[in-house]
Amino acid sequence: MLEPSADEIREWENAVTQFMIEYLGGLRDRPVYRHTTSHEIRSGLDPKLPTKGTDFASLLKVFRERIVPFSRQNAHPRMFGYVQSPGTPIGAFADLLASTLNANLTIWRSAPAPVELERLTIDWIRQILGFNPEAGGLFVSGGSMANLAALAAARQTKYDSLGRLRMYASSATHFSIIKAAALLGIGRENLRHVAIDERFRMRVDDLVAKITADLEAGYVPCCVVGNAGTVDTGAVDPLHEIREVANRFQLWMHVDGSYGAFAILAQSADRRLRLAAELPPVPQESQPTRFDRRCEHDVRARKAWVLYGGQPVSVPLPQTQGGRPWQGHGLAECRADKRDAIRAGKSHS
Ligand SMILES: Cc1ncc(COP(=O)(O)O)c(C=O)c1O
Repeated sequence: MLEPSADEIREWENAVTQFMIEYLGGLRDRPVYRHTTSHEIRSGLDPKLPTKGTDFASLLKVFRERIVPFSRQNAHPRMFGYVQSPGTPIGAFADLLASTLNANLTIWRSAPAPVELERLTIDWIRQILGFNPEAGGLFVSGGSMANLAALAAARQTKYDSLGRLRMYASSATHFSIIKAAALLGIGRENLRHVAIDERFRMRVDDLVAKITADLEAGYVPCCVVGNAGTVDTGAVDPLHEIREVANRFQLWMHVDGSYGAFAILAQSADRRLRLAAELPPVPQESQPTRFDRRCEHDVRARKAWVLYGGQPVSVPLPQTQGGRPWQGHGLAECRADKRDAIRAGKSHS
């Protein structure tokens, strides 16, 4: 199994491709979601620790019969729940190639070309979002990790005040933000939930009131999180106004764009998203500590989007997140066809 012959590889490949064609071709006839139980799923899986190898055909059979029917069919045309993108053949082939190389992006020398490819892709994303040429980024494993990285950067700016730091985010913000606050030692209780208006957007007057009250009480306001699309309603916070408040109180500003940042590709994109990409950098003097702003400007298929500026680059751009397998990232999909389709308003999600 670990060293198959060329014929075996071809045989596996044919079987998998055939499965993919049949699966995608018949997707409409499947239910989007099957109500099941843990018991039902586990009873179809052999619980014994396998001590001998299994032939490929048997493994594929388990996948086809015991995994696929008990999964949510994310590529189904009637799959409207959550912000889950569908699996696509080109993405699957990209993953196949990436797994064949099995690069580990710990550091540049471990995977020079894959790292450069990621950097190149990050630069494309920078251009899509309309950031200035100095902006950089880092692929991480998802929106939660991106938020964690961004808040770690924010914490760094006022690290000396850890224990008294306060962060601000609207009450409609994704729960990964409060989780990040807990993980980073800032404390759940120090994430202040700013009130939202009737359209689920952050109320800037309440933001200012909370910051002012915290300053009076001896806390150190550190960071404000804006949403470029909240997870539940897709609301875009008033990013420009929030930025002005951040500048006024010398706060780090992080924008979580996991849900909505790429809507900027659509002609019909919310004007505020476009404006947000043009936000001026925080003035130099208001960035209190040295931190490479390129470190956490995260980008991944569904990206967290951070906007901040000011301090010139002071430490080198970290090559990667650390020991992390290189994923296909559906990079191929980032190419013109998809982009143009979104621009033309043909996007379904
Ligand atoms: C706005 C927002 N932020 C963060 C996340 C977390 O992303 P992930 O599930 O990739 O960790 C999500 C996920 O839906 C989201 O919509």
